[in-house]
Amino acid sequence: MSVMHIPGHEHQRPGEVTLEEIRSVMGNCQLCELGQTRTNLVFGVGYPHARVMFIGEGPGKNEDLQGEPFVGAAGKKLDSLLSIAGLTRDQIYIANVVKCRPPGNRNPRPEEIEACSPFLREQVRSIWPDVIVCLGNFASQWLLKTEMGVTKLRGKLYQTGHFVVCPTFHPAACIYHADWQPLLEQDLALVGAWLREHPTEGAR
Ligand code: URA
Repeated sequence: MSVMHIPGHEHQRPGEVTLEEIRSVMGNCQLCELGQTRTNLVFGVGYPHARVMFIGEGPGKNEDLQGEPFVGAAGKKLDSLLSIAGLTRDQIYIANVVKCRPPGNRNPRPEEIEACSPFLREQVRSIWPDVIVCLGNFASQWLLKTEMGVTKLRGKLYQTGHFVVCPTFHPAACIYHADWQPLLEQDLALVGAWLREHPTEGAR
């Protein structure tokens, strides 16, 4: 399978920092104004040594209330699609580009993404997954350092230093655009194929 190489990611190393330590550094984060309006900071959830990490955009209403990513309608859609990649929810880790809900589910602003980025970067380093699935424009553009939209980016895997990146549609978008769902399914099938072609040598 051909994988596209992206420069600028060569110097990342697995961090020795645990997810608990990163969460505790965030504390009652007020680095951007989303800290004023959130109910809960939605840090992330899942297996800390996952081979596959999913990155969404930001918490919605249910996630804000429950403090966990992808527990609402988008999460149900994601759950229903994971098996296409041969994955279950307990094998993966899920986080968002911004950890606090943008009011009214507006898009996260550049300064909010910038303020939150060091924490996501540390999560990625701590988990050190093999594959990162970027759900939607914000995660895809953040990780691939591009302004290109996910419609153009999706459909292939990218190599960014250690990580194989799969940019794809956000599951919430597929609720409204049913014709995008088969494309999201194709992308998850690419991830499944890559994982099968690259079995782990040891237990993770
Ligand atoms: N959409 C996201 O991008 N993240 C969530 O956690 C929930 C919905």
